Amino acid sequence: MQLKTIKQINSLENKTVLVRVDFNVPIKNNKVLDNSRIKSSLPTIKYLIEKKAKIILLTHVGRPAGRVVSSLKVDPIIKDLNKLLKKKVKKLESKNWKLSDKEKIEILKIIEKLKSGQVAMLENIRFSADEKNNTGTLSQELANLADFFVLDGFAVAHRDSASVTGVAKYIPAYAGLLLQKEIKALQKITDKTQHPFVAIVGGAKAETKIPLLKSFLKKSDSLLVGGGIFNTILYASGYKVGSSLISTDNNIQKQILKISKNKKVILPIDVIVGHKNAKFFYPVDIKKKKHLICKNDEAVFDVGPKTILKFSKKIKSAKTLVWNGAFGYFEKKPYDHGTKAIARLLASRAKGSAYGVVGGGETLQVINDLGLFDDIDFVSTGGGAMLEFLSGKELPGIKVVSKK
Ligand code: 3PG
Repeated sequence: MQLKTIKQINSLENKTVLVRVDFNVPIKNNKVLDNSRIKSSLPTIKYLIEKKAKIILLTHVGRPAGRVVSSLKVDPIIKDLNKLLKKKVKKLESKNWKLSDKEKIEILKIIEKLKSGQVAMLENIRFSADEKNNTGTLSQELANLADFFVLDGFAVAHRDSASVTGVAKYIPAYAGLLLQKEIKALQKITDKTQHPFVAIVGGAKAETKIPLLKSFLKKSDSLLVGGGIFNTILYASGYKVGSSLISTDNNIQKQILKISKNKKVILPIDVIVGHKNAKFFYPVDIKKKKHLICKNDEAVFDVGPKTILKFSKKIKSAKTLVWNGAFGYFEKKPYDHGTKAIARLLASRAKGSAYGVVGGGETLQVINDLGLFDDIDFVSTGGGAMLEFLSGKELPGIKVVSKK
């Protein structure tokens, strides 16, 4: 895959550039709680400012599904950007995206008046019901606003929507610097892998990880599994797992069980069972013969110490490490041990002994909480997008900015 990148645009001076970023960040009481995704797109925005373009930023926030949700407006993001860029970002009021012709003309007038190097931002694009499936005329209308389209939000590159793939049909489309960086970093896992390659996959929902697990079965040397995926394996193999989080779909259970039989897959040998509020908790060894792991009012909430030791040996032997998904209910102490141990082990090997990559919402939260961000070679901004990329899928957003 060869990308068309913003650096290949000859002259950006006074040109209007619509930049689709992914600023889908947590917002509470009108404040951005974690601005890492915003910071990740700054190089692209600053490059365009330096080249004297007129910049229009566009993002989604949450899943408002075509309705205006005031807590999902972009105003707190604009405030954050003002500080980060040390310049005023102008809001282009697009309300619910059902604009009258007069209102559209107003927006165009404001854009025309933008000075080169100035930045403006449109409202949450998912307030429009036409965004998700690229229906109606939304993508043409967006294209009418600019000379060039830049996709920078890797985290949304797996969505075939009006603002990701739709606009690219009408105006020249290019990859931003973040998109380019993400692809380069993840290709070191998919195409230029250094062995031994140890993949670590956890997370609550087994169903969302099946394509990734299958891909890692082909590419990795060892696949360490934990979290809800492991609970599902235990349940499907005939162990009694009480009220542990599992995938209830029979077909998913069968697929997961089949994957778990592959000799590359390394499963936990002990778990921490307990009460949700951690009123009590205790370790349980997993024996070969199927047995009761926890009673109905208990659940598996973490991997145990023997598992951490076993997994650490594999992690220490790796030249490539990828991690996605927590190993337990890490939000509640002491069920955070397993997940944090994996984070620390990975960080201790990355940027030196191994090439270490992590991604996915909860995984990032743990890395940030432990202050390990700078100890890891690459922290992807993508959740679902990273999973799909590493599963070997062609992402629609990447396709529209690739050379034919
Ligand atoms: C993400 O957070 O993974 C991206 O912003 C994509 O969001 P979505 O899953 O709601 O499309």
